Amino acid sequence: MKGKQVFITGSTQGIGRAAAMELARLGASVTVHGRDAARAESIAAEIRQATGNPSVDSIAFDLSSLKELRAAAQRYLDGHARLDVLCLNAGVFLGKRELSAEGHEKTVATRFLGHFLLTQLFLPSLKASGDGRIIITAAPPNGMKANFEDLDLEKSYGAIKAVTQGMGLLLMAQLEIAEKMRGQGVTVNFLHPGVIDTKLLSQMPWIFRKIQALVGGFPAKGADTLVYLASEPSLKGSTGQFFIKRKPKPYAGAISQRDNQQRAYELGLKITA
Ligand SMILES: NC(=O)c1ccc[n+]([C@@H]2O[C@H](COP(=O)([O-])OP(=O)(O)OC[C@H]3O[C@@H](n4cnc5c(N)ncnc54)[C@H](OP(=O)(O)O)[C@@H]3O)[C@@H](O)[C@H]2O)c1
Repeated sequence: MKGKQVFITGSTQGIGRAAAMELARLGASVTVHGRDAARAESIAAEIRQATGNPSVDSIAFDLSSLKELRAAAQRYLDGHARLDVLCLNAGVFLGKRELSAEGHEKTVATRFLGHFLLTQLFLPSLKASGDGRIIITAAPPNGMKANFEDLDLEKSYGAIKAVTQGMGLLLMAQLEIAEKMRGQGVTVNFLHPGVIDTKLLSQMPWIFRKIQALVGGFPAKGADTLVYLASEPSLKGSTGQFFIKRKPKPYAGAISQRDNQQRAYELGLKITA
């Protein structure tokens, strides 16, 4: 990974932090991202210290705030000539419905709208790489769906429903980007990390916490396939694929339907324009 530039959203803890550590260990230049500047910089310093790689920096912005994101992304682009790997990893689980700065439901704003805008702003840099890779940390995709009629879950809110909506729209729109970028040196792939013992999982209902306590893996285990997708040379050009434990797996359901992918992409463009 020497000479490669990597940006991982939500890398101050959990799977993103473990992936940042491993990719820095492999020699990549890595940007650690989270909402709090001091925390993001302290994780970057910890990674520099642990790996001996000085090329680890940090940036802080709230992905759910499109205005804040736009300004921060410009700061990043001013300081980095290109980007080889963009990991869309940050996620939230919110027991109560909250709104973003622009008035969207916060899970959807973070997972879908923030990641959509970030991708749009970084696409020229990813194209300049010649082997630009967008990697999404997701969950098993077959049950993912999107309610286009109630984007911000005003009619009925549930934390799991919000994650499904945010992740479903994220995957649909990014799979459309995979199609649009075919042959242009940018690929999009996504993965399920497994059940991993992180803060996010500990905020979920008791049944998930029970599963976490029984089978939850270390964050480094959850980061393994992400690191593989970022670094494996033979994956250059592979796009639109879903991976578990480094292996491509078939997927179906709403996220695989072209009309949904186009609709989510158009929605992302309309809201973030
Ligand atoms: N853990 C699992 O078993 C599991 C299973 C399937 C999929 N996933 C997915 O894997 C991804 C990583 O999850 P994790 O378990 O590692 O979670 P985690 O430990 O809770 O980490 C979440 C990261 O996202 C960042 N973040 C959250 N909201 C943000 C916002 N508005 N703006 C910027 N950064 C934000 C957090 O940063 P700060 O709090 O420092 O700002 C943190 O770095 C998520 O998308 C999750 O859905 C996890």
